Amino acid sequence: MKSKFYITTPIYYVNASPHIGHSYTTIAADTIARFMRKALKEGNVLFLTGTDEHGQKIQKAADEAGLSAQEFVDKVVVQFRNLWKTLNISYDDFIRTTQDRHIRTVQKALQMLYDKKEIYSAEYQGWYCTPCEIFWTETQLTDSLCPDCRRPLEKISEVNYFFKISAYQDWLFNHIKNNPCFIQPASRQEEILSFLKMNTLTDLCISRPRQRLSWGIPVPFSKEHVTYVWFDALINYISAVGEFDDKGNYVSGWWGDDTRIVHMIGKDILRQHTVYWPIMLKALGIRMPDTVCAHGWWLIDAAKMSKSRGNVVNPLEVVDKYGVDVYRYFLLKDVPFGLDGNFSEEAIVKRFNSDLANDLGNLLYRTLTMIEKYYQGVIPSPRDGAHDERIKNIASCITSLSREVEDALAKATFNFSLALEKIWEPINMANKYVEEAKPWNLAKENKKEELEAFIRILVDVIRQVGNALSPFMPQTASLIEEQIGRDKISKGRPLFPRIENKR
Ligand code: ME8
Ligand code: MG
Repeated sequence: MKSKFYITTPIYYVNASPHIGHSYTTIAADTIARFMRKALKEGNVLFLTGTDEHGQKIQKAADEAGLSAQEFVDKVVVQFRNLWKTLNISYDDFIRTTQDRHIRTVQKALQMLYDKKEIYSAEYQGWYCTPCEIFWTETQLTDSLCPDCRRPLEKISEVNYFFKISAYQDWLFNHIKNNPCFIQPASRQEEILSFLKMNTLTDLCISRPRQRLSWGIPVPFSKEHVTYVWFDALINYISAVGEFDDKGNYVSGWWGDDTRIVHMIGKDILRQHTVYWPIMLKALGIRMPDTVCAHGWWLIDAAKMSKSRGNVVNPLEVVDKYGVDVYRYFLLKDVPFGLDGNFSEEAIVKRFNSDLANDLGNLLYRTLTMIEKYYQGVIPSPRDGAHDERIKNIASCITSLSREVEDALAKATFNFSLALEKIWEPINMANKYVEEAKPWNLAKENKKEELEAFIRILVDVIRQVGNALSPFMPQTASLIEEQIGRDKISKGRPLFPRIENKR
């Protein structure tokens, strides 16, 4: 394992309020960051999130709100920060693309690429999709609509600056092919490899004429242009954690060979992160990230949840109703990471009642109740040599738990649902054991040692589970710790009281 770990989320557009989709990526990254903080030395994890504040979309939203672009983004960014606070997101740094540190680095990168003749100017003709901020060439279109979102396009002809990404096609193909961890999951790697096989890259237009769009980072070598928002945005991953020195070398404590660098994104922005971004880095003489991990989409009735479609669910409402950890748990458990999933409250309630109320909550509550009843709230001390087969099985299950969670979570695949499945194994075994062992009989028959060994293994399970759950459900983990972490228990109300079906 590398000694340092740097993980990022996309920087989200601040043209509208955050929705479940944004919270999903951020919760996933937060869970990994929390996990890695336990695995590595203190201070060796950096978790970055932030906001993408330039471009036409944002200018348009600001115009509609009757505010200046800066006023508008300053307002919306607060919603993101507040949501992350509510969701217990433990980011270490928050980058905004309107910050000086970012603007400086973008301009330096542009100037360096321009000086190296990697950027040139040319007359541009094409079709532009404003909501997607994507240019399309004639050959990419089958009709007059955006191939991605099926909305109308605008025809455009103007002088712009282009970045020679076409020169890097072979290099990129080989890099992806030779580094299977670079794009995850594997299906996404195949997608990009076949895209590169079937298509010739066209040079990337990295500027916008100021007369058409002024809300962007000024291009240092042309007064008439601002930077294309995607070129600007991708740079955030390096502008947050380092600087170019006078010789043009990028210097950073978080981008060396001793750091594992992971970009967590949704599959909608895979191409920007696995085609443009690696080529930008290569041209700037900067090392590649280790992994770009692209998850699937949350859908509402089979359509992608998105601001532009207007079918978004506000995470705050869900959290208000069910609690933060239930929300975090649901998102990470209900859908295997990488696939699309359908969001519905019925699905949350179902998960809640089965996994959280019946399994985890019940195990904790019944264990605390027995400790109260049989031991006046004082947990019996550990005993050696449990002879019961079931105790041995449960004990070995919790011994291997942390390694199994690590395997599921710390590898490039980031299999959250598998990790949670592993955590539920001892919970389920323990609950089953309670039903079989019938502790009330042990108590009645005064089988002291058996009862003690029985209670003790339940306590061990709950403590281990609490510990393993802490990256996923930080609040729940500390409640478990509070209630059963010390010798004397402190029983509270049930953590997850069953939700009855209201009709
Ligand atoms: O694309 N399901 O920002 P954005 C799952 N600023 N995840 C979703 C989702 C959904 N329905 N909808 C959005 C941008 N997301 C650029 C990024 S990065 C240098 C620049 C999540 O506000 C997912 O992570 O459109 C997706 O990639 C991201 O939000 C897009 O956010
Ligand atoms: Mg988007």
